[in-house]
Amino acid sequence: MASPVLVLALVAATLLPASHCSVSGVGFQLKLRHVDAHGSYTKLELVTRAIRRSRARVAALQAVAAAAATVAPVVDPIIAARILVAASQGEYLMDLAIGTPPLRYTAMVDTGSDLIWTQCAPCVLCADQPTPYFRPARSATYRLVPCRSPLCAALPYPACFQRSVCVYQYYYGDEASTAGVLASETFTFGAANSSKVMVSDVAFGCGNINSGQLANSSGMVGLGRGPLSLVSQLGPSRFSYCLTSFLSPEPSRLNFGVFATLNGTNASSSGSPVQSTPLVVNAALPSLYFMSLKGISLGQKRLPIDPLVFAINDDGTGGVFIDSGTSLTWLQQDAYDAVRRELVSVLRPLPPTNDTEIGLETCFPWPPPPSVAVTVPDMELHFDGGANMTVPPENYMLIDGATGFLCLAMIRSGDATIIGNYQQQNMHILYDIANSLLSFVPAPCNIV
Ligand SMILES: *[C@@H]1O[C@H](CO)[C@@H](O)[C@H](O)[C@H]1NC(C)=O
Ligand SMILES: *[C@@H]1O[C@H](CO)[C@@H](O)[C@H](O)[C@H]1NC(C)=O
Ligand SMILES: *[C@@H]1O[C@H](CO)[C@@H](O)[C@H](O)[C@H]1NC(C)=O
Ligand SMILES: *[C@@H]1O[C@H](CO)[C@@H](O)[C@H](O)[C@H]1NC(C)=O
Ligand SMILES: *[C@@H]1O[C@H](CO)[C@@H](O)[C@H](O)[C@H]1NC(C)=O
Ligand SMILES: *[C@@H]1O[C@H](CO)[C@@H](O)[C@H](O)[C@H]1NC(C)=O
Repeated sequence: MASPVLVLALVAATLLPASHCSVSGVGFQLKLRHVDAHGSYTKLELVTRAIRRSRARVAALQAVAAAAATVAPVVDPIIAARILVAASQGEYLMDLAIGTPPLRYTAMVDTGSDLIWTQCAPCVLCADQPTPYFRPARSATYRLVPCRSPLCAALPYPACFQRSVCVYQYYYGDEASTAGVLASETFTFGAANSSKVMVSDVAFGCGNINSGQLANSSGMVGLGRGPLSLVSQLGPSRFSYCLTSFLSPEPSRLNFGVFATLNGTNASSSGSPVQSTPLVVNAALPSLYFMSLKGISLGQKRLPIDPLVFAINDDGTGGVFIDSGTSLTWLQQDAYDAVRRELVSVLRPLPPTNDTEIGLETCFPWPPPPSVAVTVPDMELHFDGGANMTVPPENYMLIDGATGFLCLAMIRSGDATIIGNYQQQNMHILYDIANSLLSFVPAPCNIV
């Protein structure tokens, strides 16, 4: 790959850096589309694709975590930053616009990383994208972020060109990468006219050297906990989303700032109260939303799981985090085995089997013969602070209609537990960074 400094010599040398102004107090709502929403896939294809993406994302996490573990007993934060980038293939897309006049584009949304970036012309190397490349020279509000800005220092690999221009480089696990200058721009959010909001001086990566696939988008919007993420750059620093059913074509909702509140959520008929649990910081993976999980119940039965299996290890491995970019939940293996044992017992006499077609290992023939009456219970996750997340069967089991199996929609994990988006369907979830709190309430996400 060409040096980003070389690129700067070509594209940025004539532009003068300007200071970055912070923004505050904005809020807006917008729609999220699932990456596969317009692909005309069958249900089985949707599930198989989701499982494949889940595996790819976790493989990227594990690869870099393993690399970190061999470097030093304590995870090197620089290497840890690479993990996030390695894992940042998103599951949801949002529409936004950049510059003055605004250029509309679609970006992948990622709660696992921070940087907002798009491909910028002139391209030294760019991937195909559905909309034109952003041309800084044609925008009246484009500014470079100077090296002395704290946002430049927040990059995993900050570099300085001509002592003033901040250069970023992000590498993905699969050799994909983006590099360019850290700049600031006016961004426009919100599709509905009534909630359209323009925010000036949002720092983003203007990528002139990019490689890899963008999956029908023109960049990425990071919603992680770090200073560069969109949610951190806006104020107040909180966002909420409500994901519609996995197999539904209806768009999901994403709310920022003052619009991100569970007050007034059209809560389910059960009238479940809002539950809240503290967010936990994992210094090795500071952008991710870790939580403290204490136990799991199936129906009324609390499963025999040592809470220590959910703890973050000294080297930063393990722990439990919630992620929008992982589809199926990854459950720590001891906890997985306990869930599997209880499911086998609850669904007796149905014989447990593997569904090799979609790669899930706890499945049952479905539908059961008429003579067999079985009921799949709710699952409940017990978090720190007494918060309980009720997971109805449709959020942790899936039916593979092609082979006739009902499968546990979770993947056995060596160490870390990742609460994936399949488990978050029809739940309004608030990420409150300022108060370090995650709140959630069941909701019909197509009408909240
Ligand atoms: C949004 O604004 C555009 C142009 O300003 C207008 O043509 C359109 O009708 C508006 N849409 C709604 C839903 O108000
Ligand atoms: C892009 O979208 C089209 C349908 O609009 C789909 O067929 C194609 O698979 C998508 N490409 C990627 C990489 O997701
Ligand atoms: C929700 O409402 C309560 C009571 O009115 C208020 O204290 C709280 O701050 C609100 N929460 C949010 C996120 O707006
Ligand atoms: C809640 O949803 C129902 C439809 O189930 C709708 O009639 C009602 O207006 C909604 N309430 C709010 C506050 O959005
Ligand atoms: C299911 O697959 C797993 C992993 O491939 C294997 O360890 C296990 O023995 C299989 N179980 C059954 C019942 O075939
Ligand atoms: C959560 O579940 C636990 C165990 O069943 C129970 O003791 C606790 O009261 C529940 N918390 C809430 C807020 O319902």
